[in-house]
Amino acid sequence: MNHIKIGLSYDTLLIPPPKIVPSILSADLRKLGEEVREAERAGADMLHFDIMDGHFVPNISFGPMIIKALRSESSIPFIAHLMVERPEDFVDPVIDAGGDLIIFHIEACSYPFRLISSLRKRNVNVGVALNPTTPLSAVRYVMKYVDMILLMTVEPGFGGQTLIPEMIDKIRKLRDLMAKNGLRKDIAVDGGVDFMNASSIIRAGANVLIAGTSIFSQNNIEEAVKKLKKIALEIYHDLCGSGHNNL
Ligand code: DX5
Ligand code: ZN
Repeated sequence: MNHIKIGLSYDTLLIPPPKIVPSILSADLRKLGEEVREAERAGADMLHFDIMDGHFVPNISFGPMIIKALRSESSIPFIAHLMVERPEDFVDPVIDAGGDLIIFHIEACSYPFRLISSLRKRNVNVGVALNPTTPLSAVRYVMKYVDMILLMTVEPGFGGQTLIPEMIDKIRKLRDLMAKNGLRKDIAVDGGVDFMNASSIIRAGANVLIAGTSIFSQNNIEEAVKKLKKIALEIYHDLCGSGHNNL
């Protein structure tokens, strides 16, 4: 078991190991199967699907059909990031299509406890996402009941944006909040993750790097996944080994 000390206010806490999660929004849709297989070969831990409805975010992407089409191409877990209003309406089709971890936005859901329990009944993992300006207090009471908290580090809706620097502090605050409550959950970061900022993201206490452009815009997808994973693992082992980080 790896104990990691974070900040000065807490003794030790546990952070799950890093995971690299390519977001297929930035993949080449003409050869999606191929790119997904390449990412998986390189050691991607999960795949991320942004489902957008044109209402919750000002963009439309794809729906459960893409999840279904790719399910037979890959054996790693699929994350469905529901960037939609009324997420409860999309849950069944997304799970039926092959989604393994369903993430809904707290801003779009009036009854999160109800949604979480209906997702649990369907035997899937559950995550909750927060837009950049949504305070952490919004998930304070549901945190315990989900597997992953996803912090949007750009305004949601489009790939290829730059990470908002203030979000590093938000990651740190969330990890601290979890530690205070004795929780060891995945913290995912989504938006503008790249080779330059990956280490500060991991150092701040996140462990799931969701990356679209920085992986799929490269000529060699395999190399990009491996590079991101190497950075994340190095920092993680450094934190575990030293027993503290450089906050
Ligand atoms: C953005 C989506 C992200 C997107 C990230 O609204 O939620 O998953 O694919 O793309 P990059 O890594 O290009 O910022
Ligand atoms: Zn996403």
